[in-house]
Amino acid sequence: MTDLFGLAGNVVAVIGAGSGIGAACAVGASRQGAHVACLDLDETAASATRTTITGHGGQAESAVVDITDEAMSARVLEALRDRHGRLDGVVCTPSINVRKTLLNYSEDEFDRVVRVNLKGSFNVVRAAGRIMVPQGFGSIVVLSSIRSQVVEPGQSIYAMTKAGIVQLVRGAAVEFGAAGVRVNALAPGVVDTPLTAPIRANSGWYDAYANKNILKRWATAEEMVGPTIFLLTQAASYVTGTVLVADGGWLAADGRFSPPGL
Ligand SMILES: NC(=O)c1ccc[n+]([C@@H]2O[C@H](COP(=O)([O-])OP(=O)(O)OC[C@H]3O[C@@H](n4cnc5c(N)ncnc54)[C@H](O)[C@@H]3O)[C@@H](O)[C@H]2O)c1
Repeated sequence: MTDLFGLAGNVVAVIGAGSGIGAACAVGASRQGAHVACLDLDETAASATRTTITGHGGQAESAVVDITDEAMSARVLEALRDRHGRLDGVVCTPSINVRKTLLNYSEDEFDRVVRVNLKGSFNVVRAAGRIMVPQGFGSIVVLSSIRSQVVEPGQSIYAMTKAGIVQLVRGAAVEFGAAGVRVNALAPGVVDTPLTAPIRANSGWYDAYANKNILKRWATAEEMVGPTIFLLTQAASYVTGTVLVADGGWLAADGRFSPPGL
């Protein structure tokens, strides 16, 4: 039986590898045997993740990519394919959030969030698809969120983009599937990373989020590695067009009230 969760011989690009979930997934993919390209807008952060991987004896390289730049996204992934003769996996994590109510959102803030989260994800899915469809294999994982399904004040635009990513993933899965290319979304709950630092800074907010989910705590970035690796590997060979929720049970629980006396 093949190693279901192994990535030996695979070339995997992790975009957003400089921080949070992307950094954890880059290290995690390397631990499963992949050669990992650590890609990020932040060159220093991408190269720090590469150094972590090579320091543990893994194989990695790093480069700058801005996913809002379609040509650059394509160029970086094509160069990776050209160097290694294949591209097995692409994980796309970058997203930004401006926490403001709809009525207070400026046009510029709307454009910035949509540009990174939606257009950026589109650029990456398309660049990866243009390589993987002709090669006849590959797995693409794009980060969505529980916010694709539930929302709270100040998250409308971010949530809108996370829901859009779900349909982007389904559309790409439908179009790439016959070529053997799988496309899925990962939807985390609350994960301690720089993205959520403003929440950690407010203990009332932080604790309310911890108590909302069934496990009564935040996730670490490392806890997103298993679900992501699963989607990249043979273990998920018949999994495509889906949203893998890793939210500590956030979406399963109503959470308004626990009836007394139970
Ligand atoms: N942290 C959470 O609680 C949480 C919850 C649900 C979903 N998510 C999703 O997970 C993903 C990763 O979140 P995170 O918490 O690891 O974020 P993060 O802010 O820690 O890391 C994002 C990385 O993306 C990079 N980046 C930003 N813009 C870029 C661009 N244009 N091109 C290339 N790289 C760019 C940043 O430099 C950074 O290294 C996001 O899509 C986020 O919406 C996070």
